[in-house]
Amino acid sequence: MSQDTYLSKLESAHDIEVFGEALYTSIARLTRDPRWREVWVTLAKLETQTKERLADRLRPEKAVREKPYRRWMGRVLGFAAAVAPRSWLLRVMVSETADYIKLFEELRAVAPPEDAALVDYIVAHEEAQAVFAREALAGASATFLAPVEALLER
Ligand SMILES: [Fe+2]
Repeated sequence: MSQDTYLSKLESAHDIEVFGEALYTSIARLTRDPRWREVWVTLAKLETQTKERLADRLRPEKAVREKPYRRWMGRVLGFAAAVAPRSWLLRVMVSETADYIKLFEELRAVAPPEDAALVDYIVAHEEAQAVFAREALAGASATFLAPVEALLER
């Protein structure tokens, strides 16, 4: 894989985080229950952190621009997600995170050794959201954010 192709994969990952940050922020804004609002805020923080780590990696090599339509899509889908039944949303998250884990594992397979820690972190941040969604569906609210919190500002 050429360096340009690899960098464009990192850019796509950055786009996904812009979307995720807007999605969770939008859900948080529309959630009345303060405990659940804090859950979505925490998930948004993980997306922001991941987005920034990708931007830091890309910036020396190319201009990093947050695509407004990615943010807009996240906001709009966040609005829909916030009014949907929570169990439906969590089931969608289980399915979506499985797809993203696969995508990021493919990225890990082509990442140069100097990016191994970054790409491991990106896979882990997706796995943490999968754990959250599965445990939230199972009602394990005391522990469902532990993997997400462990990754924040690590
Ligand atoms: Fe993410």
